Amino acid sequence: MATNEAWPAQLGPVICVVGARPNFMKMAPILRAFAAHRPALPTLLVHTGQHYDRDMNDRLFDDLRLPHPDINLEVGSGTHALQTAEVMRRFEPVLDAQQPSCVLVVGDVNSTLACTLVCAKKAVPVVHVEAGLRSYDRAMPEEINRVLTDQIADRLYTTERSAHANLVREGVAEERVCFVGNVMIDSLLSNREFACPAAKTLQMAGFDPAVVDDPRGYGVVTLHRPSNVDREENLAPLLAVLREVSDQVPLIFALHPRTRANIDRFSLGKLLASERIVLLPPQGYLEMLGLLAGAKLVLSDSGGLQEETTALGVPCLTIRENTERPITIEQGTNTLVGCDPCAIRIGVNEILAGAGKTGRVPEFWDGRAAERIAADLFQWLIAHHAQRSR
Ligand code: UD1
Repeated sequence: MATNEAWPAQLGPVICVVGARPNFMKMAPILRAFAAHRPALPTLLVHTGQHYDRDMNDRLFDDLRLPHPDINLEVGSGTHALQTAEVMRRFEPVLDAQQPSCVLVVGDVNSTLACTLVCAKKAVPVVHVEAGLRSYDRAMPEEINRVLTDQIADRLYTTERSAHANLVREGVAEERVCFVGNVMIDSLLSNREFACPAAKTLQMAGFDPAVVDDPRGYGVVTLHRPSNVDREENLAPLLAVLREVSDQVPLIFALHPRTRANIDRFSLGKLLASERIVLLPPQGYLEMLGLLAGAKLVLSDSGGLQEETTALGVPCLTIRENTERPITIEQGTNTLVGCDPCAIRIGVNEILAGAGKTGRVPEFWDGRAAERIAADLFQWLIAHHAQRSR
């Protein structure tokens, strides 16, 4: 939204925090919308370094045309406590030095909560994008991150209307919440035309591109949730059922480093040794988009893929007992199948028989969510800081 007002000289920049892979596709459209807003919202991009290697980080920065971070805290991997504490320790001096007007965090990773906690004790306003999503499963580290971040955040932007109700139930004042839609879908829509065709992705990785021409199509698989991949007794049956599914439809499995490490640790590689299962390293954004857009079905425990498949109209079987994104089930193409091999088989058979969900694209998943955030945040910051200086 255009406005004649100028960016007030007394307001510092908006510190935008990214840490892990799923943050990057959310932040890219936000930075672009902040730059395009009149007046532009000045930003400072801080990367915590939670994800750091080429596959998990650099390729996505390139694909999404994200600017090089202004500051990288380089925390790396660790236990939850260590990683969270290290982000906090390294982020505090950044706040002191930069005096931002607010800190904007996205999603639900450890970096999201860590930076939020630092702000709370320094009276720096926190803005949370993708607020209010709840799986109601406290065994999920992300659920703890979501609940605590939302309790602290001053301005909360939601992707679906159910999030608003969740927040109000937790005592968050309604006037702090603003429904803007889904920035992840902003990224998807603006990049769709640049997606890398699936056959090319396979060819570049040294595989036979004809896999994607199977008469039944192909499936895309990702798994990385600790609850699915950290214990052999959970991971082995899942891999075994994937092997069975691959007899019906070839599978392209993009392996997260956590999953690859556990497959090696438990010596489960033999379960996936089939020419109908293509094992790829973590994919770039444009490669993954091409794989998803052309898929017959997706099997995954990812949060983001539930939304992306809904936007693309591709049936998704979510290998989890719950979801924090219920709209993907109610309106989209998502079905929860849990970890039960029988339910997974039934779900796959339905899709292959042509009875998969088609769904519709939810409200405000229209490519303009970041624009709405820019317009609202500008007005909110002006009002918030005027009130504070009174
Ligand atoms: C994190 C997020 C999760 C998100 C996921 C996407 C939390 C609590 N979890 O989980 O919500 O869905 O990112 O990937 O924040 N590793 C690498 N290279 C990297 C980063 C990690 O090899 O660049 C390996 C390390 O061995 C590390 C492991 O992956 O120990 C897990 O990384 P970590 O960031 O702890 O959690 P994720 O499982 O990626």
